[in-house]
Amino acid sequence: MTSLYCVFGHPIGHSRSPFIHQAFAKSLGIDLRYEKRDVPLDQFADYIASFQTEGGKGANITVPFKQKALALAQHVTSRARMAGAVNTLLFKESGEVVGDNTDGAGLLNDLRRLGVELKEARIAILGAGGAVRGVIAPLLDAEPNSITIANRTLSRAQSLIDDWAGESRLSATSPDQLTGEFDLIINGTSASLSNTLPTTGEAKLRDDGWAYDMVYAAEATPFMQWAFTQGAHAADGLGMLVEQAAESFSLWEGIRPAVEPVLEALRKDIRTA
Ligand code: ATR
Repeated sequence: MTSLYCVFGHPIGHSRSPFIHQAFAKSLGIDLRYEKRDVPLDQFADYIASFQTEGGKGANITVPFKQKALALAQHVTSRARMAGAVNTLLFKESGEVVGDNTDGAGLLNDLRRLGVELKEARIAILGAGGAVRGVIAPLLDAEPNSITIANRTLSRAQSLIDDWAGESRLSATSPDQLTGEFDLIINGTSASLSNTLPTTGEAKLRDDGWAYDMVYAAEATPFMQWAFTQGAHAADGLGMLVEQAAESFSLWEGIRPAVEPVLEALRKDIRTA
């Protein structure tokens, strides 16, 4: 029987999730259909309910419905609760809806794949939006030395770290006050979407350090180029996208697909699009 999955968002036309999940399924010989549905802002719950009625086994949720998905799920994993957002739904045969968040695991798995050492690392994160909230807990679990969150609107960075009260490795600053040498700087702002470099202040990357842009693009983003000029390594977020999808796929199908071949195919597809 064909397993039915779907990604819900608004807009959704750009989503690469069908490409990724169909490629995973093909590599494992699994019969799977994966659709994308553009949801009117006030009809999220209705769309999910009718997808469940159609026999949907699971779904990915993207902007702007990740908080609505959190509210809708009857059972929410602790990592989704920490992230304050759900990007993966699992529909159980009992009708129960499970909400999970695989974004943080996706980033961590991608950093591991790239060989980025996180233990004792000095990390800076630019941005303090939803994308950043979801990666703080898994990054802390990797035992870094420190995580400095620098956001254009300082109050947002401060209120973010307030949720980890007592966590001495976390600090907040404004980007123009950011200073020192880091092992890893993560760009969690949406600046790359408008092809701009977010303010990096006086921050430096150590030799052999890494810059990771959570956004992906056909060419190196301005943030990646900034890292290259310092002789550091840089990656965009395409690997994170495929890794978070692999994590969702494992939850749904109980088997972990290989990431590399799909990532390579997707990279080619993006470059030729
Ligand atoms: P998401 O859920 O994708 O994180 P968001 O909640 O809208 O989206 O957050 C976007 C982040 O990118 C914010 O940290 C935003 O900074 P502000 O909080 O000051 O708005 C940041 N951002 C967007 N454009 C930026 C730019 N050109 N330079 C620096 N930061 C930028």
